[in-house]
Amino acid sequence: MNIRAARVGDVPAIGDLIRTFADRKLMIRRSPGELYESIREFLVAEDDNGQIVGCSALHVFWEDLAELKCLAVSESAQGFGIGRKLVDACWKAARELEIATVFTLTYVPEFFERCGYDRVEKSDLPHKIWNECVRCPLFPSCTEVALVRSIYPDPLNSESVAELVAV
Ligand SMILES: CC(C)(COP(=O)(O)OP(=O)(O)OC[C@H]1O[C@@H](n2cnc3c(N)ncnc32)[C@H](O)[C@@H]1OP(=O)(O)O)[C@@H](O)C(=O)NCCC(=O)NCCS
Repeated sequence: MNIRAARVGDVPAIGDLIRTFADRKLMIRRSPGELYESIREFLVAEDDNGQIVGCSALHVFWEDLAELKCLAVSESAQGFGIGRKLVDACWKAARELEIATVFTLTYVPEFFERCGYDRVEKSDLPHKIWNECVRCPLFPSCTEVALVRSIYPDPLNSESVAELVAV
């Protein structure tokens, strides 16, 4: 199993993977156009046969804040540590970009806690990040939980995130 940067040829497989869970209202559906436009944000997990069995994306919001999104592992590959590897690889990618804080919104907070993320109040996240929510089938009564991983003890009150709130 290999984690690597996604390529345009991976878009159909990423789309299929996300659709599996979007059909169950666990994730937001992504069109091929959206996936091609954001392909540089994606990592994929490829099994030994070259099949895509997982994906994740890191979307940069601001100088010091990025979102881990589109995390999915195909059902047959779940439970083998692939999800954790994708989460860790996104954190590494964020740190290489010198981003200090990564957040995620999820229905599986316990999984992210196992991966080193801490729960925060959704209302503490900057308003700018909510643009996508109107597209979610569960909007406005979503029960997603917000979690963050950061090099700062108090990440959502850092100076640069306060700047994002103000923009
Ligand atoms: C959530 C998901 C990514 C987990 O992937 P995975 O490859 O099965 O997870 P891993 O095998 O890496 O698990 C890592 C740890 O989290 C735990 N874990 C995995 N799924 C969990 C869950 N749903 N709830 C609680 N803990 C979970 C594992 O037991 C493991 O614990 P450990 O620290 O004792 O080893 C996968 O189930 C998935 O794709 N779900 C559907 C889409 C989805 O909900 N995505 C979430 C982002 S919105």
